[in-house]
Amino acid sequence: MEKRLISHSEAETKAIARAVIEDNIGKHRPLVIGLKGDLGAGKTVFVKGAAAFLGIPETRVSSPTFVIMNVYKGEYRSAPVVFQHLDLYRLNSSYELYSFGWDEIIRSSDISIVEWADKFVEYLPEDTIWVNIEHIGQTKRGITISIPGSSIG
Ligand SMILES: Nc1ncnc2c1ncn2[C@@H]1O[C@H](COP(=O)(O)OP(=O)(O)OP(=O)(O)O)[C@@H](O)[C@H]1O
Ligand SMILES: [Mg+2]
Repeated sequence: MEKRLISHSEAETKAIARAVIEDNIGKHRPLVIGLKGDLGAGKTVFVKGAAAFLGIPETRVSSPTFVIMNVYKGEYRSAPVVFQHLDLYRLNSSYELYSFGWDEIIRSSDISIVEWADKFVEYLPEDTIWVNIEHIGQTKRGITISIPGSSIG
């Protein structure tokens, strides 16, 4: 299933992120969301929206510039949820991805959101939900959500 939405603000992008998590949280284990989009498209904004939905203060979420990965303890309906934010921008080869323990890492959290996941498409789980954020105008973004294996909404 593919859904195309328009966001007119940072707040709308965060609301879309919340909806994506809420709609899919029980359906995939782990739930992996791969983000695509240019520099400044709004990928980290999307992650902040998802974090806030899980009770993690969005001010704690920043681009994992030096560490590639940040792990947070959140919750959903009073149950603990391990949430991780990854950013593959600085990785240049699948060798680097593996030396960083990729397979373990992607399985170790309940929910993972991966910026620049399109650099390593074949290393993401088959049931990854893909979200493409496209810059249209100063505050306008096209957001395309692709959920594999479901033909009906
Ligand atoms: N509709 C919108 N959705 C998301 N961000 C928006 C929107 N309109 C404006 N912005 C602004 O665009 C910027 C997006 O920055 P963000 O760090 O999320 O980009 P990014 O895709 O993570 O970039 P990078 O590839 O450098 O990590 C922010 O300054 C945000 O305020
Ligand atoms: Mg970012």
